[in-house]
Amino acid sequence: MNWPAHLQLELTNACDLRCRHCHFHGEGVTKERAVGHMAESVWRAALAEIATWNTELTVQPWGMGEPLLHPQLWEVVAVAKAIPRTTVGFYSNGMQWRDEDIKAAMHSRIDWVCFSVDGLDPARFAHFRDGGTLAKVVDTIERLHAARTRRGGRAPGIRINMVAYDEHMTTAESFVERWRGIAESISISRFRPVGSRRFSPIELPRVPCYQLTSLLPVAWDGRVAMCCEDPQIKEPVGTFPESTLEAIWNGERMQAMRAAHRDGRYDVSALCKDCDAWTGIYGRDGKAPGAIVLEKTAAVIYTLE
Ligand SMILES: C[S@@+](CC[C@H](N)C(=O)[O-])C[C@H]1O[C@@H](n2cnc3c(N)ncnc32)[C@H](O)[C@@H]1O
Ligand code: SF4
Repeated sequence: MNWPAHLQLELTNACDLRCRHCHFHGEGVTKERAVGHMAESVWRAALAEIATWNTELTVQPWGMGEPLLHPQLWEVVAVAKAIPRTTVGFYSNGMQWRDEDIKAAMHSRIDWVCFSVDGLDPARFAHFRDGGTLAKVVDTIERLHAARTRRGGRAPGIRINMVAYDEHMTTAESFVERWRGIAESISISRFRPVGSRRFSPIELPRVPCYQLTSLLPVAWDGRVAMCCEDPQIKEPVGTFPESTLEAIWNGERMQAMRAAHRDGRYDVSALCKDCDAWTGIYGRDGKAPGAIVLEKTAAVIYTLE
């Protein structure tokens, strides 16, 4: 049987910030779907189903919102982690972490948390991450790091992502040095204007998109998107739990899309037509002192030694 490697469970698409360039909450973006939290019946049913798959799977309890706003986040993480062979991690804007959340993260066995920190200049941070405060996010990361150090070991993993909006951003070198000793992985992501599905700065030979055979994104209301480049869910491929995840993953719509890609008919979907997320399979080694560097089309990833 063929299973995805990654299950994205969008626990919520609500957010406390209005990041200027966010593809869902950003300036000038019209939300084409309702904002809400995933019901307990939906996330429990999804996790119960994947428990029967007996496959290695990454569960990502986040989507177009801030996962800390979902009141059952840590319960979801605990249930997902109780399933053998699952890895669990999510992105967070770092603004809502109370001490209880730090404790819950420490107890939940979550594998990693990736904090979004757009540079080290407080005023520019506040400009891009509208509603956010750099000092508060830094405090969250340092509290989690301190809790981890007190217990001994490096779990949960701390990752940090900075979007390189323009040439005035904090340089990658100084950003990496700021977080050395705290985070294990730093990514500097390429900025994509709202609506853009272009990641690569160079033309590369087109290949079938890896997302169609590796990622299953379930929105908070149970609708399943074809890939993670459809924030408004314009081309749903099914609805859970009306259909099982397995039936959607191996269903007609997904099979048709995979066949179209195999045949080079990329324009069968308006999404695929002008997208180059498929370039995510390409990468090359880079160089930086004291780090393993992987240069991808969408981001440069520094793994700190
Ligand atoms: C959509 S957010 C959702 C999770 C969470 N609310 C957060 O901000 O981390 C996921 C990631 O996408 C990044 N992002 C948002 N807008 C972007 C853009 N226009 N280009 C590139 N990355 C972007 C965010 O900075 C964040 O790291
Ligand atoms: S915190 Fe995340 S989801 Fe919220 S507006 Fe910013 S990028 Fe979008």
